[in-house]
Amino acid sequence: MKFFLDTANVDEIREASALGLVDGITTNPSLLAKEPAPDREILEEICALVEGPVSAEVVSTDSEGMVREGRDLAKIAPNIVVKCPLIVEGLKAVRILKQDGIRSNVTLCFSVPQAIFAAKAGAYIISPFVGRLDDIGVDGMSLIRDIQQVYRNYAFETEILVASIRNPLHVIEAARIGADIATIPAKVYKGLLKHPLTDSGLERFLEDYRNAQKVGAAV
Ligand code: G3P
Repeated sequence: MKFFLDTANVDEIREASALGLVDGITTNPSLLAKEPAPDREILEEICALVEGPVSAEVVSTDSEGMVREGRDLAKIAPNIVVKCPLIVEGLKAVRILKQDGIRSNVTLCFSVPQAIFAAKAGAYIISPFVGRLDDIGVDGMSLIRDIQQVYRNYAFETEILVASIRNPLHVIEAARIGADIATIPAKVYKGLLKHPLTDSGLERFLEDYRNAQKVGAAV
């Protein structure tokens, strides 16, 4: 399972990637809007920090505009993946970008038929948003289960990226289902490695070690 960070904050990316276990990054216009630097500068910096795919989203709503933006974004670095919204114009853009050898991440997916259309259009990644479905009382993880089954039925190669992750349970469930990628906010990512029993257990081991040393020294 690949762990991506869902952020446009370079400091968060630098800190998390020091562990060497960040497989990619997803950004979107809302995440980039939180950062003071120009978007392109941020994306250049992120692509230099992380070897894996870095998703950068188009903001046009017509396919010509998306293709133009996508081609331009792809010039930033070879690991850029162009994020297109799951609308008709977005899927048209995905097909054209694919012909150019540019990979796309189809975003804002909320249903199985949408995911099938994206795969048929040639998406490299599909991004179903689990948290936003949970927000409206629909089980987001059921959508992941269904897409996984359908993609397997037809051997679609599009990778399933679980997006809009809000908590560790989303990550655990995504892994149980066998989703290819989870894109995780930095705060949730940090929490995944921690367990209070690990900390208290380590403290106890070290204390016992120190005490044993004291006894040894006194003999
Ligand atoms: O990758 C898409 C993700 O950033 C959306 O998350 O929390 O805004 O629903 P959220």
